[in-house]
Amino acid sequence: MEGVASGEYVCIKALENGVSVIGMTRGRDTRLHHTEKLDKGEVMLAQFTESVSAIKIHGRTRVYCAHGEFETGAE
Ligand code: TRP
Repeated sequence: MEGVASGEYVCIKALENGVSVIGMTRGRDTRLHHTEKLDKGEVMLAQFTESVSAIKIHGRTRVYCAHGEFETGAE
């Protein structure tokens, strides 16, 4: 698939309103690429690509990925 670096998906489920999932650019410079807002119960499935190599999550979520399952954000 052109433009897709990894076939693996990361699944992020929002546990509160107003969660942000922020894509960080791949390469020498780390800049914000794209911010996606999720509300409680919304689920996002995403892949890392040629242009995004990391994500930052603000807020309470449950993350499911190849490395396991974990929660983000304060209780
Ligand atoms: N631009 C960085 C890179 O492609 C983005 C990044 C990936 C990053 N993992 C990181 C930035 C860990 C800080 C910490 O490598």
